[in-house]
Amino acid sequence: MNNEQLIASYRDAGQGQVFAFWDSLAPAARNALAVQAREIDLAEVDRLNRTLVLKSAGGAGVDLAGLTPAPCTLLPANGGDAAQWAKARAAGEAALRAGRVAAFTVAGGQGTRLGYDGPKGTFAVTPLKKKPLFQLFAEKIKASGLRHGRPLHWFIMTSHANHEQTESFFTERGFFGLDQGRVHFFRQGRMPAVDFAGKILLESTSSLALSPDGHGGSLRALHRSGALDLMQREGIDTISYFQVDNPIVRCVDPAFIGFHLLAGAEMSSKMVPKAYPEEKVGHFCLQHGKVVVIEYSDMPMAMQRETNPGGALRYSAGSIAIHLIDREFARRMAAGGDGVALPFHRADKKIPTVDAAGRLLKPEQANGVKFEMFVFDALPFARNSVVIETAREDDFSPVKNAEGVDSPKTAREDQLRQFARWLKAAGAVVPVDATGLPHSGIEVSPLFGYDTESFAERWNRLAPRPAIAEGLYLE
Ligand code: UD1
Repeated sequence: MNNEQLIASYRDAGQGQVFAFWDSLAPAARNALAVQAREIDLAEVDRLNRTLVLKSAGGAGVDLAGLTPAPCTLLPANGGDAAQWAKARAAGEAALRAGRVAAFTVAGGQGTRLGYDGPKGTFAVTPLKKKPLFQLFAEKIKASGLRHGRPLHWFIMTSHANHEQTESFFTERGFFGLDQGRVHFFRQGRMPAVDFAGKILLESTSSLALSPDGHGGSLRALHRSGALDLMQREGIDTISYFQVDNPIVRCVDPAFIGFHLLAGAEMSSKMVPKAYPEEKVGHFCLQHGKVVVIEYSDMPMAMQRETNPGGALRYSAGSIAIHLIDREFARRMAAGGDGVALPFHRADKKIPTVDAAGRLLKPEQANGVKFEMFVFDALPFARNSVVIETAREDDFSPVKNAEGVDSPKTAREDQLRQFARWLKAAGAVVPVDATGLPHSGIEVSPLFGYDTESFAERWNRLAPRPAIAEGLYLE
């Protein structure tokens, strides 16, 4: 399609304003705008305008009909079957030894709430060594590979805004000891923002207002980037998905992998019981016989506060955004068709744009709509979806806000508590406060130990054992 045809296609779609400044643009600027304009699926934008933007000002509304809490496999400590967990763990370890699993981090978000200017994965999180999130994940992934005698492939989804910075961060730091050939970066897709009349907004006279298409875009991006084909060539069929903001996540968890594979599931999830009714997490529910996640913002507060006769929260299973995804399921979701597609969600935002004279405008209030897909919306399409419980203190302490809940401070303290628990379980005496926080700043490298068992194995082999004191770093 040449430029004239491109411009005509926009005019025919009622989006001619995108080229309002075309005549005044220099050749390079024209070219840049045309490249962006070609990236847009105008039919998709038109469909989203009709279904999400023009229909109602407040969004499409989420269907809450017939929701019940989703069934979950509980931890042995909470009534689950210990033999079943042991069997699952063994199956997961076998899959890791066979090289069937890859780690996958979604790191395309903008991290606005944290107020950190840089890719979130480069944010320093550990208590002593101030290791960045990416280094922590790299070491966990390396440790798992060493344990199972099969180094893992690691896929990292970036955004257009942070891709180069992310890649050079890894290059400058020698890929944190990983084999560079097994670390794969790819960009997620972008969607144009529109105003409330459905018109695509310009960010400048020669560029569109584009933003990442949400972590749900990861399924398309895995496909488009060739990652799924690479996995197939490598004999990988299971993708271990986690968010970049969670330092204590188990990047690959044998028991989880085992439950997923033994059930023949296409997509599985981990949950933690919600800490309090208002906690900002998604809820695992069952709807028309399928597992769905209903976001905190979409579930009425009265429902979030509902309790069972015993007094426990009825919708207690909180999503911590950890999933296992079957490779071919990802391919099917990415290809779409036949009613199989992730829905888009509407978010009303302040979107910097230009006025009719091409001057930059910084709106004070929401002036348009961004479109995002959520990966958990794939769950109802998946066969045999499994939800298992995990212990919050061993899997979830996200860094989302600069201060208060889910902040660098809470994540640091949760890591310290975890190190203290591992030490105590291995027989060491560790002075802690009433919340389990050790009195001394200590740190354990994932290469020393990454869970109670692996830690104890290594600790028990140490002779002499170091004193538990400020600055102790075990690596
Ligand atoms: C998310 C989940 C919520 C879950 C919680 C657990 C959504 C809508 N909600 O909330 O159900 O309980 O995490 O921590 O996701 N990302 C991309 N590209 C994007 C957007 C996001 O890669 O376009 C990545 C981010 O880098 C991050 C993750 O997705 O790793 C989560 O994004 P964020 O917007 O912070 O989600 P939350 O609202 O915190």
